[in-house]
Amino acid sequence: MAKDDFESLRSEAEKKSTGWTNPRVIALLLVAISCAAILCTTLTFFLHPDQTVDGDVPPFEPLPTDPDEMTIVERINCYPDRNAGEAERICLARGCEWQPTVVDGAPYCFFPRGHGTYRLVLEQEHTWGMRLTLERETYTPSFFGQDIQTLTLDIEFQSRNRLHFKFYDASKPRFEVPIPLPPRPNEGAINTDYAITYTARPFTIKITRKSTGEILWDTSIGALIFEDQFLSISTRLPSSNLYGFGESEHRSFKHDMNWRTWGLFARDQPPGDNINLYGVHPFYMNVEYGGNAHGVLFFNLNAQDFTVQPTPALTYRTVGGILDFYMFLGPTPDHVIQQYTELVGRPMIPPYWALGYHLSRYGYENLDNLQKVVASMREYDIPHDVQYSDIDYMKRNLDFTLDEENFGGLGEFVESIKAEGTRYIIMLDPAISANETGYEPYDLGVDNDVFIKDEFGDLRYGKVWPDYPNITVNSSVDWDTGVRLFRAYAVFPDYRKQATKDWWIDQITKFKEIINFDGLWLDMNEPANFVHGSVDGCSENIYDLPPYVPRISGGGPIYDKTICMNSVQQLDDNRKENHYNMHSLYGWSQTIPTVDAVQQLTGMRSLVVTRSTVPSSGTNSGHWLGDNGSNWPQLRYSIIGTLEFNLFGVPHVGADICGFFNDSPEDLCRRWHQVGAFYPYARNHNGIRYQAQDPGSYGEEFAVSIRELLHIRYRMLPYLYTLFYDAHTQGSTVVRSLMHEFTHDSHTWGIDRQFMWGSALLISPVLEEDTTVVRAYFPQARWYDYYEGMEISVENLEVAGGIDLVAPRDVVPLHFRGGYIIPTQQPHNCTKFSRLNPFGLIVPLDESMEAAGDLFWDDGDSIDTVENGDYYLMRYIFSRHILTSSFIHVPTNHPTALFENLALDDITIYGLETEPSVVKFNGGALDASSFEFKAETKVLSVKSLDHPMTDVFTLAIEFSESP
Ligand SMILES: *[C@@H]1O[C@H](CO)[C@@H](O)[C@H](O)[C@H]1NC(C)=O
Ligand SMILES: *[C@@H]1O[C@H](CO)[C@@H](O)[C@H](O)[C@H]1NC(C)=O
Ligand SMILES: *[C@@H]1O[C@H](CO)[C@@H](O)[C@H](O)[C@H]1NC(C)=O
Ligand SMILES: *[C@@H]1O[C@H](CO)[C@@H](O)[C@H](O)[C@H]1NC(C)=O
Repeated sequence: MAKDDFESLRSEAEKKSTGWTNPRVIALLLVAISCAAILCTTLTFFLHPDQTVDGDVPPFEPLPTDPDEMTIVERINCYPDRNAGEAERICLARGCEWQPTVVDGAPYCFFPRGHGTYRLVLEQEHTWGMRLTLERETYTPSFFGQDIQTLTLDIEFQSRNRLHFKFYDASKPRFEVPIPLPPRPNEGAINTDYAITYTARPFTIKITRKSTGEILWDTSIGALIFEDQFLSISTRLPSSNLYGFGESEHRSFKHDMNWRTWGLFARDQPPGDNINLYGVHPFYMNVEYGGNAHGVLFFNLNAQDFTVQPTPALTYRTVGGILDFYMFLGPTPDHVIQQYTELVGRPMIPPYWALGYHLSRYGYENLDNLQKVVASMREYDIPHDVQYSDIDYMKRNLDFTLDEENFGGLGEFVESIKAEGTRYIIMLDPAISANETGYEPYDLGVDNDVFIKDEFGDLRYGKVWPDYPNITVNSSVDWDTGVRLFRAYAVFPDYRKQATKDWWIDQITKFKEIINFDGLWLDMNEPANFVHGSVDGCSENIYDLPPYVPRISGGGPIYDKTICMNSVQQLDDNRKENHYNMHSLYGWSQTIPTVDAVQQLTGMRSLVVTRSTVPSSGTNSGHWLGDNGSNWPQLRYSIIGTLEFNLFGVPHVGADICGFFNDSPEDLCRRWHQVGAFYPYARNHNGIRYQAQDPGSYGEEFAVSIRELLHIRYRMLPYLYTLFYDAHTQGSTVVRSLMHEFTHDSHTWGIDRQFMWGSALLISPVLEEDTTVVRAYFPQARWYDYYEGMEISVENLEVAGGIDLVAPRDVVPLHFRGGYIIPTQQPHNCTKFSRLNPFGLIVPLDESMEAAGDLFWDDGDSIDTVENGDYYLMRYIFSRHILTSSFIHVPTNHPTALFENLALDDITIYGLETEPSVVKFNGGALDASSFEFKAETKVLSVKSLDHPMTDVFTLAIEFSESP
């Protein structure tokens, strides 16, 4: 097992003595030799010359040739600390080198080459892999004097494509992320696509993709530090094609590798440049220059930051837990995400209605205004699946209350719009006001001991939305004064406790009697706090004043905008834990009982949308990208955020359409809808007191344009829903980048202004003001315009930088990719009705005149339909000019009910060679009036088939001369 791999490595390395043509391999060889010359004990090293070299793609970015420059890009920062004072002295005291440089962002203080912190002292083989024991070098100076002397490194060969390795302290348990992961797969190490090599002194590790020889990880570039509150590890990366890591607003999907440091720690923070946002996803994907992809999860959710640099290299730094990594070898991007979600959990399939259009705002002010907005949606017949209420439905922002004065009758109104097919979602915040009299959520919460405590066992008080009772708020005072004078004390439920879960579910149950919601929306669950730490600040303690504060909180303390890190929470049934370790898990812990509550109460698959997420959040919830602004750049970044959350296994995601803060000009809101119509989670949401931005608010012409646009989305909902089935069953992404599908085309690696639904649909939206032209890139494939069916001509394929498409203000360029069949359904005003409409098939042909695709169909909102087998899975295949349908799965119970009275009406085939003479459906020639061929576009449309979905069919195309 493990041993075989090591043996095979050794022998391969011995066998290969010629063919060192690759510059990177030569460079590494030199490093290995020079390293050996100093003091390295190289146990084994592996260099594989058989690189896959992709025709027109340079296999590697050229390495810098200037030796000085090369040293600088190799520098690993030895003084990442915030306080700039005495940097040089501290740097030298850490045994590091100090050398100012003019290279922007490069560190002055860096680890010397071969800097050793640990050496290997023991190797043990196990059935699951290797256990290595490392001893800290006594001569190595310390960062903060809390070093763990003896480390254990377990390297588990979990499956062919999954490797787990973790550094920990075997003598003393440390915090580990409590998100449950499935048991280790039992495939063992046979045939792994990775090989591990390491050096003993200093201890460094390399992970190699065996099939190509690419070195995926190589820690020899930097020091390994494992202190109680400062843990750091650096690795070289095989390429600078780095994607993922969140939650942050990234301005490019492919990371900027030019000395960027990003903090990760859950935070109530509107998106902005380089500041940690609501959730934490320490997961990246790297695309190697040969076109293979791998992914790495750092399974650590303590406050952390990471640095990327042009070497290319990556440094992780965290303030607690252990150094716990999972690597997924792909080799395609979608394989990587499938392997990742196999570990952290496959995404849920949202209820069908959750794929419709959602409308929300903060600040409807009263029921009357809300009713007017809904009436305007009806007037213009705009698809409207979900309506929301933000905290302003509450009485003075108190959870589980209704503002009877302004929203009296909301319950009845909700029932009335539900009867029309629109669902309702309301917001809940975690913080509970402590200053009310006779406020049951607080009183029962105290009785049942459900709130987070301070270090003395008393309630930890912060302040969030609710004001004190019986006061008049002076809204002209500044924010901090207002918080101090008017905001009530608030306490924070400790959702890991069973008593808290019971209390929360009980409160939700009672409130559902008042408003019969269909789903819940969880805000402020980082947890957000308007006073820093608590109403009294935080004490001086090692958690609130750790020796290292990562690049978070905009330079503020670690407890900035949240509760003190020494607050005490429940970890599990028996153990308590500091907020320091539990912080970023708060939203996750709240979401679990919330999902339980809504599903118990509705008896249906429901929708819970959470602001704070972590790995595994996609298994039970969706996410919006937070409080963005109504501006063009954030429209553009929303595509990047949506792509990233698809990598994180949270595919039901989107940004607030038209933007949350500030007024949204008509042209921005129009273009934003053109992007948002293709977010998996399509919600228009607005902030309080800004100009209305619901589709009806800009006049009739705008409303009609949005209706037509949303009809495109609704038409393709069966396809979007099927993509969620693929995500749920295989872990595939729903929205993806062009890189994801055309990984071997290096032009796609940096594209983040276009995105795809699955493999089939390419969206190339306008993202700038006053523009009716879009630059769009088309990789090698057949592509057909959505609207007219024109095929992108061969000379316009693979044009570096893209070609110009015309996009008048009402048009978002959309293209079908040949080879992928898209199931459709005629749109309606909401999914309740669109689900009854006739189906259709879009059949764009590929170079071999073939196409295939699936349709997943269940009742749309029962729980666990896939697990219970209560669904249809249809497969459509077009080959040799015949389209056939077949059932891959029929419902285990009530086999026909799901498709009852549903028909297939139209089939549109793109890219035929020439005009058909006969079109036969189930053997019978169709009347010439029921099909149409457009010679100019080569599109064949067959209409009005009215074929029952419960029956299979064939459609055969015949030509008078063979094409
Ligand atoms: C949708 O249209 C139907 C009539 O076909 C109507 O009864 C229903 O109220 C409408 N629903 C919405 C959400 O507009
Ligand atoms: C709010 O509640 C806290 C905690 O019980 C208390 O200390 C504080 O005095 C109260 N403030 C007001 C204005 O009632
Ligand atoms: C605050 O007002 C409520 C009525 O809104 C009243 O029942 C309560 O007694 C008042 N509390 C105080 C402290 O005045
Ligand atoms: C409200 O606050 C402003 C600014 O501090 C102050 O000038 C004003 O007098 C206050 N109004 C009342 C009614 O207290």
